[in-house]
Amino acid sequence: FKAPEIKNEPMRSYAPGSAERKAIEAAVAQMEQELPFEVPCIINGEVVKTGKFAKQPMPHDHARHLCTYHEADETTVARAIDGALAAKATWENMPWPDRAAIFLKAADLVSGKYKYKLMAATILGQGKNVWQAEIDAAAELTDFFRFGVKYVEELYAQQPPQNSPGSWNRVEYRALEGFVLAVSPFNFTAIGGNLPGTPALVGNVVVWKPSPAATYSNYLVYQLLTEAGVPPGVIQFVPGPPPEVVAQAINHPSFAALHFTGSTFVFKKLWKDIASNIDKYKGYPRIVGETGGKNFHVIHKSAEVRNAVLQSIRGAFEYQGQKCSALSRLYVSSTIWEGGFKDQFLEEIAKIKVGPPQDWSNFMGPVIGRPAYDKITGYIKKAIDAGGEILIGGAGDDSKGYFVQPTVILTKDPQSVTMVDEIFGPVVTVYVFQDADFEKTLELVDSTTDYALTGAIFAQDRLALISATNRLRNAAGNVYYNEKCTGAVVGQQPFGGARASGTNDKAGSISIFYRFVSARSIKENF
Ligand code: ALA
Repeated sequence: FKAPEIKNEPMRSYAPGSAERKAIEAAVAQMEQELPFEVPCIINGEVVKTGKFAKQPMPHDHARHLCTYHEADETTVARAIDGALAAKATWENMPWPDRAAIFLKAADLVSGKYKYKLMAATILGQGKNVWQAEIDAAAELTDFFRFGVKYVEELYAQQPPQNSPGSWNRVEYRALEGFVLAVSPFNFTAIGGNLPGTPALVGNVVVWKPSPAATYSNYLVYQLLTEAGVPPGVIQFVPGPPPEVVAQAINHPSFAALHFTGSTFVFKKLWKDIASNIDKYKGYPRIVGETGGKNFHVIHKSAEVRNAVLQSIRGAFEYQGQKCSALSRLYVSSTIWEGGFKDQFLEEIAKIKVGPPQDWSNFMGPVIGRPAYDKITGYIKKAIDAGGEILIGGAGDDSKGYFVQPTVILTKDPQSVTMVDEIFGPVVTVYVFQDADFEKTLELVDSTTDYALTGAIFAQDRLALISATNRLRNAAGNVYYNEKCTGAVVGQQPFGGARASGTNDKAGSISIFYRFVSARSIKENF
């Protein structure tokens, strides 16, 4: 068996009058007409309506909601776990080409039949503009499934290099014993698909709790996986259960792994819960998490100003700064700051339009919800109280949707609160350093926060790039030269951070698949 050649899904421009522009406009208009939708739990392929209703409001228009969903309760989660365990033997023993075919078909459904619907759900439900929705719900999700097949094929092909005369050694990469709990975030529909998809590809069964703020797009992902042929019970869809229900899964003796993307706080809490249950389990659960970030750009005196300006704007403000990889600490050398960076940065930001994400002129949409809005505006206030100067933005408007202006804070204190804490919104804090203090600034970048997800160095001087890379060896799992710190592409930049940012298992690469298999060595004498 050899998987077909795998390539990254191409990205389209959505030029006025283009077919793709008409198609997404039609899909959004249709969804606006049909909403709100009703989303059940799906257990063993069956619709389960618990009657415990919750809503997914639209962040640009919070009086309306995209869907009402049935929150999983204790009985539903218990059924989900039992059903997953019952489905396990057939799924893990299914010949690999058949499992691969299901995910290749799922990828085709993402990039074909479901594309505009998935994008529309991501636009209306998660507040992404069309281009951001395309990167996520069309391209990255397709790539996760297709490249996943390629990586699993490579994983299964890995065998011991040596055999002795008269014997043969081989290694089997088996699914974990038990079930995997996938807890996915609101900010990428693609991660919604990847968190259950990666463990399932290698034969695991998964109980999947999507983020309440991404329920509808994630339900569509669930539907297309079913349509592609994922058998009943293999992935159980349990939307929006409260923390007790996640705890219920972790309390179960057959809990085998956690695949998590979300906040550092929640991940640490789940890790502690797992640790406190350790005697219950058959094995040591695998814990795989991608959590927060406090990501940086360092602009060296040799940097090309225009590129550094535009990349910093994209890194900080695309999707309203709600990517775990988003830029939020910007260190600029004084020559560059005064030599055009500051003026161009503020001039370009002043042109940014903020508003409903389905309106083509808006570069920025809303932030995801009330708690996010309060947190972000609260941090802006804290920065002002701490002596920070707002260079642009600073305001919010939550009357209809949760809109926050792109905000730049200038600080003289490199340890000030908005240089240290993750805000997860469109706020970037700038610290200007003297050209001669480049090395000292690298020290600051490294020591200011607990996070280590992404970062970028802008310099034309190669020695500066080398020096920064060496000095910052533990400060980011993904580093970019002369490009923004967001936008890792599956198959191109394996993604993940260390320290408080996660277990650095590298989504979008072969590495992560090792975490969801248990290897068995077999030696046979002839
Ligand atoms: N993988 C996403 C990025 O790199 C989060 O921006």
